[in-house]
Amino acid sequence: MIVSTKDLFKHAYGKYAIGAYNINNAEQIMGLFRGNLDSSAPFIIQISKGARSYTDKRLLEAMIRAADEIFPEAIFAVHLDHGDEEACMDCINSGFYSSVMIDASSKSFEENVAITKRVVEAAHAKGIAVEAELGTLGGVEEHVVVDESEAHLTDPAEAEEFVKLTGCDSLACAFGTSHGAFKFAGSQGLHFEIIKGIRDLLPGFPIVMHGSSSVPQEEVRRINAAGGDIKGAKGVAEDQISQAAPMGVTKVNIDTDGRLVWCRVHRESFRDDPENFDLRPPGKIFMSEYARYIAHKNEVLGSAGQLESLRESINQS
Ligand code: G3H
Ligand code: 13P
Ligand code: ZN
Repeated sequence: MIVSTKDLFKHAYGKYAIGAYNINNAEQIMGLFRGNLDSSAPFIIQISKGARSYTDKRLLEAMIRAADEIFPEAIFAVHLDHGDEEACMDCINSGFYSSVMIDASSKSFEENVAITKRVVEAAHAKGIAVEAELGTLGGVEEHVVVDESEAHLTDPAEAEEFVKLTGCDSLACAFGTSHGAFKFAGSQGLHFEIIKGIRDLLPGFPIVMHGSSSVPQEEVRRINAAGGDIKGAKGVAEDQISQAAPMGVTKVNIDTDGRLVWCRVHRESFRDDPENFDLRPPGKIFMSEYARYIAHKNEVLGSAGQLESLRESINQS
């Protein structure tokens, strides 16, 4: 069942975080639905601009509709990840998306406010929620001087002003994470003082954490042992994610970890079965391994086991 992103946030805020998982193809969709049902978790399925054009946005949307029929017990929201104004308007007008993200964080504060306001106005007119972004995700690393123009953490006071000015429904904030597989050089982790600062100024308002992949070291080791070369890859420690969730970090974005599962399964499959040229054997392993990863991640987020309580609260409202 596709639901409003705001319904998911209302149920989760301050208690657990919803996993927001990026998908690009049928195998990821199947693994994602299975993993969430195996762990009885609600989730957000998110589609980036790149994913919308990888095959065709209509194909991806049709596969999600089909998955909704195949897995009628699932409760999830459909979200546009890192949209520009044009992509947001396209998704808002399509009638399929529960929420969109307008990412104008590279613009000035004033421009970001103006663009976000336009998207909020169009989205709210159709009952669609909007995630905006303030601050720039980057490699804020221990002992490394990072150019202020490349990465700067979100200022809680600015976040409060931004939310009041734009009316957005959730905010992606920079508090130490970055996208991809190489997040930290040293032992640097999340800046909890920034999360606390935003939570105190905006109580009840969902904070979004991008760049949340944990980059499991066993996955990295197996990829490298099977011919890969991603040495030094490092992600967000899982205990930090569990700590952030009750502090108002309500949506946790994960893409890279799924790519690592894909990479490991296929590298090992080509190494161990050099005579095979059929896509289905590694595809089947990927779907079940991705489902296993998702179920585990939902335990970390605290979303595992929340499905029936959410269903009851949606049915009552
Ligand atoms: O934050 C970005 C996501 O990892 C999506 O990546 O734009 O390559 O699909 P993508
Ligand atoms: P990761 O690269 O850490 O998976 O982050 C994904 C993300 O933020 C998608 O918006
Ligand atoms: Zn992101």
